Amino acid sequence: MRSLALLLCPCVIAVVVHLWLVANRTALLDLNDSDRQPSSLEVLVGVLSARHHHDLRDAIRETWLGYIKQHPQFRHRVAVKFIIGRRGCPIPQEDREDPYSCTLLNLTDPVNGQEVEVLPVPDDSVLAHSEVSAVSLDLKVLHPIVITRLGVFPDGPNMELRGNVTVKLFQVDQEEPVVTARFSSMSTGTSMNGVWYKPVEQFILPKGFEGTLVWESLDADLVTANVSRVQFNNGGGVFRISSIEEGTLPHRSALGFPGVAGGFTYSIYDVDVLLEMLRGRPERMQDQASRLRLEDEALDQESLRHGDMVFVDVIDTYRNVPSKLLQFYNWSIGNADFSLLLKTDDDCYIDVDAVLMKIDHKRLRRNSFWWGNFRQSWAVDRVGKWQELEYSSPAYPAFACGSGYVVSRDLVEWLAGNANRLKAYQGEDVSMGIWMAAVGPGKYQDSGWLCEKHCYLDMLSSPQHSPEELRSLWDRKRVCGDPCGCPWGHP
Ligand SMILES: *[C@@H]1O[C@H](CO)[C@@H](O)[C@H](O)[C@H]1NC(C)=O
Ligand SMILES: *[C@@H]1O[C@H](CO)[C@@H](O)[C@H](O)[C@H]1NC(C)=O
Ligand SMILES: *[C@@H]1O[C@H](CO)[C@@H](O)[C@H](O)[C@H]1NC(C)=O
Ligand SMILES: *[C@@H]1O[C@H](CO)[C@@H](O)[C@H](O)[C@H]1NC(C)=O
Ligand SMILES: *[C@@H]1O[C@H](CO)[C@@H](O)[C@H](O)[C@H]1NC(C)=O
Ligand SMILES: *[C@@H]1O[C@H](CO)[C@@H](O)[C@H](O)[C@H]1NC(C)=O
Repeated sequence: MRSLALLLCPCVIAVVVHLWLVANRTALLDLNDSDRQPSSLEVLVGVLSARHHHDLRDAIRETWLGYIKQHPQFRHRVAVKFIIGRRGCPIPQEDREDPYSCTLLNLTDPVNGQEVEVLPVPDDSVLAHSEVSAVSLDLKVLHPIVITRLGVFPDGPNMELRGNVTVKLFQVDQEEPVVTARFSSMSTGTSMNGVWYKPVEQFILPKGFEGTLVWESLDADLVTANVSRVQFNNGGGVFRISSIEEGTLPHRSALGFPGVAGGFTYSIYDVDVLLEMLRGRPERMQDQASRLRLEDEALDQESLRHGDMVFVDVIDTYRNVPSKLLQFYNWSIGNADFSLLLKTDDDCYIDVDAVLMKIDHKRLRRNSFWWGNFRQSWAVDRVGKWQELEYSSPAYPAFACGSGYVVSRDLVEWLAGNANRLKAYQGEDVSMGIWMAAVGPGKYQDSGWLCEKHCYLDMLSSPQHSPEELRSLWDRKRVCGDPCGCPWGHP
């Protein structure tokens, strides 16, 4: 037996060596490029890019990416990949709830022309004295409405009003209410379907308006409705009541417990426009489907031609950018050999010389390392494009502004390994800050990563450039050796 083992040994070793070579070869060829990397990379650059931004991608290919590809050394040290969502949003812009996500504006039979009561109270069995003196209700407008009256629930035994209650409608994050109504036994307003109403000044609340209704009693506890036993009339979906449940964001509790202590009446603004919009929907959906087919084809061709695109299985919208990034991290671990990962956006210019020089001079090939321009104590936004509904602290942990930052491979491995557990917050930059806060990497602060559109001498990257501007930065780089070397506008 022993001699047989000895005989087999060289053969086993040969097989192992052979397997290793095959494995190594496969690993090297895994970067499925036209331009394959001969050895392990130093920096993998991931450029977040929207599907339709082919002009920006081309400008980058002509400028700093082209420079890398032609450079005798850099082409072996750096690889660049555009990160693209595999799927486009099948819902046309006009038919979405907001421009940042891919949610259908789901309107059915909008009530035409008349005043609608959001919460009629047919009998007082759904009402109960609460133990609080302020409650609030959040709402988001999906098609313009006009609030015509604000109302409170009766607090007397025969549906009469005895207490002093004030109802206010706030625009989220504004100090002054948009409209206010005050109720007392001396001034009750009029009763309709079990609710006391007073008219208010009629403002058009636009699509996207986010507000909070607050009921406050100065002298007694409020009468509230058991929300699981009432039905809100949202006029076929022109607005959404967003936070009745427990677990709302803590800043709301300053305004009141989630709940409802009355109703309001409203009318839908421009119903004809809305109906026209709904009639045109099927055709728009079809157009969008064929547009997406063309876009898919164009993207496949672009990818074949340049070999620098990574498609991640995500619908390509602003709200999904954190998921795009996580999936790219996951891809990068399986498909590329690198020690640092540089993340940037497709409207940014990277001064590759400056980045690589700094890596060499400052010896930045470290572990558990995050190099960026960090924002500290950044206040959390509750409205608009940067609206945060998931993260409840008033300020974010330190995060590198998203125009450009570098992380070490071990951090990317951690992110990839936990991709399923990591929650996506409002933006990719703040999400990264929250995820990284769990790891506590060594942070290397460098204001050379620009967060705003400026040109400084140590500029590495700067956001919000058009394709033309990217090209003019490159022209200046060629003339002066530095993208900011000549005065702005005069290359
Ligand atoms: C491939 O070979 C290189 C050295 O030639 C080595 O550093 C690397 O770890 C190998 N990769 C694999 C996957 O074995
Ligand atoms: C790799 O390239 C081949 C053709 O060369 C292609 O069929 C395949 O889909 C590519 N894989 C990836 C992950 O891009
Ligand atoms: C739209 O709303 C209706 C009723 O409110 C619901 O049945 C339907 O599932 C919704 N459709 C979508 C796509 O959300
Ligand atoms: C409501 O306020 C008035 C004074 O503004 C006061 O006289 C009255 O007692 C209050 N009502 C209740 C029920 O506290
Ligand atoms: C509200 O109504 C539901 C269903 O009828 C009931 O289970 C629940 O106990 C009620 N809650 C309160 C606070 O009365
Ligand atoms: C990460 O990639 C692997 C394949 O490389 C895949 O099996 C896994 O599902 C991916 N994880 C996530 C969260 O996408």
